[in-house]
Amino acid sequence: MTERERWVTRWGLILAMAGNAIGLGNFLRFPVQATQNGGGAFMIPYFVALFLLAVPLMWCEWAMGRYGGLRGHGTTPGIFALLWRHPVSKYLGVLGVFLPIGVVIYYTYIESWTLAYSFFSLLGQYAGVTTREGMSEFLASYQGLNHTFFAGQYVAYVFFVLTIGLNWWILGQGVARGIERLALIAMPVLFLFAIILVVRVFTLGAPDPAHPDQHVLSGLGFIWNPDFSRLGDAKVWLAAAGQIFFTTSVGWGAIQVYASYMKERSDVAVTGLSTVMTNEVAEVILGGSIAIPIAFAFFGSAATIEIAQSGSFNLGFASMPVIFQFLPMGNLLGMLWFLLLFLAALTSSVALTQPLVAFLQDELNVSRRRAVFISVLTVFVGAQIPIFGLKGGALDEMDFWCGTFGVALFALIECIIFVWLFSPEKAWAEIHKGAQVKLPRLFLFVLKYVTPLYLSALFIAWAWQQGPAVLSMEGAAPEDMAWRWAARLLMLGLIGVLCLLTAVAWRRVDRKLPPHRTVPHRTVMEKP
Ligand code: ALA
Repeated sequence: MTERERWVTRWGLILAMAGNAIGLGNFLRFPVQATQNGGGAFMIPYFVALFLLAVPLMWCEWAMGRYGGLRGHGTTPGIFALLWRHPVSKYLGVLGVFLPIGVVIYYTYIESWTLAYSFFSLLGQYAGVTTREGMSEFLASYQGLNHTFFAGQYVAYVFFVLTIGLNWWILGQGVARGIERLALIAMPVLFLFAIILVVRVFTLGAPDPAHPDQHVLSGLGFIWNPDFSRLGDAKVWLAAAGQIFFTTSVGWGAIQVYASYMKERSDVAVTGLSTVMTNEVAEVILGGSIAIPIAFAFFGSAATIEIAQSGSFNLGFASMPVIFQFLPMGNLLGMLWFLLLFLAALTSSVALTQPLVAFLQDELNVSRRRAVFISVLTVFVGAQIPIFGLKGGALDEMDFWCGTFGVALFALIECIIFVWLFSPEKAWAEIHKGAQVKLPRLFLFVLKYVTPLYLSALFIAWAWQQGPAVLSMEGAAPEDMAWRWAARLLMLGLIGVLCLLTAVAWRRVDRKLPPHRTVPHRTVMEKP
């Protein structure tokens, strides 16, 4: 058993956890989801899901991660096996390694677009393409779907390789030298860029004299005026809960891994809450104040809603570059926007790859260098399917199973294992170990009853509403079937291999630890 790495500073931990959560979800996915689901109507279920699902589960994940890390297990196969001594628990935990890797396989590809678009903005690559239709065509061409602007997918592939290489380099440096340093640099820069963009948006007013009614304030009003009329619509509740899981990174198994590098008596209650709140500031205050208000000001409300309905990437990649071209220093603003997205995505993609790295290190005694290499190679090879099968729906298929269905299922499993099978009082005590404050006992009630019931309802509703259509690939064109199946086989293959590795790891007598042995952390910044 090798000693585990650990965070060097409390700030490093907070910013790394915030970086884990703050990602494309905050600046790209949130505006689209909020717009598609009625703005003010969306925000009520959104905050309900935040306080009844994300916050309590986040405390559980931090406490579980710290508990496992002190016993040499940073990922959920090992953590679940410690919490619930049943042969099946470690296999349920496999989901907590599979989900982040399943997501990062397509996430890294989108991340690479943001890097490419930063260069395109700065160099004026799309200058003169001043219509939304034109920019949609540009994006499709970049993705290899037409040849109007790019002869093939080469440019996209080069940026993807660069992005993967950067992730590899950062992960290869380790937790303190790589991930923590990245967070210490990237997070303040990200907030600075976001604030500059928000100030620019707020000073726009009504930019089109022909349409004085198209004002940035109408975009803000759209999100912030509560609309109670759509609260009976289950779709809005599902979308809000899905967004909360995606943006906070709760329910994926990735938070436990970062928490496993904490010290024994580090606070979980306040620190955990502050990272969730940092994520929310980045999402609703900053993320909500850029894309939606600026689109309202330039295109009006009806067109903005239509843009959001027409595809997940159209607001960020097709509308924003058009708008920036009408503003002074537009190429710099465009570059800031895409670099902001890139930094947000980078701090999340390393967080989503680290679970596989930690699993290989902790459970199979693989060296860090080799574990990073295997993990990055897995992402690289797996990503070929969403890259080349984008049009065939491979990315959407992975996003549904890993990013929507999988998280709700895994969150339910982890909640039951930690709160019920480990025992409610032990779970509560674990959350309070080293805590700077005592949490209201109401949250124990929430954790015991409300969160699991809420999750079960979500899960059943998803399975009921979308399950049959998704399972049968309803509406998919016949030529897309092969790519959708390829994505499914990839996901099933990953689960199969991870289960096999778990079985192998648990057969190795030498790695079996007595139940409560504490594994010393490696000293600060020490090389392995
Ligand atoms: N939580 C990360 C995001 O919002 C993955 O993108």
